[in-house]
Amino acid sequence: MAQSLTKIPFVDELAAIADNMYRLGWDERNGGNISYLIPEKEVAEYIDVTNVMRTIPLGFDAVELVGKYFLVTGTGKYFKNVKGDPKTNLGLFRIAKDGATAELLWGYVDGGKFTSELPAHLMSHIARLNVDPQNRVVMHTHPTNLLAMTYVHELDTKKFTHTLWQMSTECIVVFPDGVEVLPWMLCGTNEIGVATAEKMRDARVVVWALHGIYGAGKTLDETFGLIETVEKASEIYIKTAHLPRSNTIKDEQLVELAKHFNCNYRKEFLDIE
Ligand code: 13P
Ligand code: ZN
Repeated sequence: MAQSLTKIPFVDELAAIADNMYRLGWDERNGGNISYLIPEKEVAEYIDVTNVMRTIPLGFDAVELVGKYFLVTGTGKYFKNVKGDPKTNLGLFRIAKDGATAELLWGYVDGGKFTSELPAHLMSHIARLNVDPQNRVVMHTHPTNLLAMTYVHELDTKKFTHTLWQMSTECIVVFPDGVEVLPWMLCGTNEIGVATAEKMRDARVVVWALHGIYGAGKTLDETFGLIETVEKASEIYIKTAHLPRSNTIKDEQLVELAKHFNCNYRKEFLDIE
């Protein structure tokens, strides 16, 4: 059992996931960021929600999230350091009544602030909460093989998803909604946030070509598992794309899988049925 650092379960949970992602080589330097929606009741068990330490302007409108609490990695912070010093590398804030300000309640103790990708995170939370009120996590990371794949595979959502589904039998079951692909865009902007959130209405995974990936889900484990499965499929692709293909998972077999596991897959990503 890992030693608890802060005795705040949701902080230790996020720190453990960030550490794991760093070990997988996905989050070099300050690469990657995580946002975790925590219910007020849970926050209040460990943190004084009446003591606002600082306010930080968001730079965009998050009025749909007023009163919600988020634990978020800091900008410029390294995933490898989160576990050892969560209070510097993470912050917990509430979206203020104006929908445009973060009220810092815990963390960012060196005067830091939330990730530069907060627009993509919070806009994605809004999009996913509309689809699934249980959604609590948005995760951005730079998985090596997925990133490599975006250099050599056509950047078309249908073709990209189809290739990934063929790379391992469980893919269509784990991400039946497929992966939405965005072309290269300037990161850390409201524009990439809007584009990501728009894709998040249809899928829990959004690929940022030549940069990385976004995943969303109910729990940190589930979201990590989703990205891990996409990354594994990308690895199979990278290991086989240059070799003659003798075998493949046929579309009929993908349908068979989806039916057997009762998955509502994106039918438009296959050429049959
Ligand atoms: P931050 O350090 O601001 O979180 O940025 C890292 C990153 O991955 C940018 O896309
Ligand atoms: Zn990034």
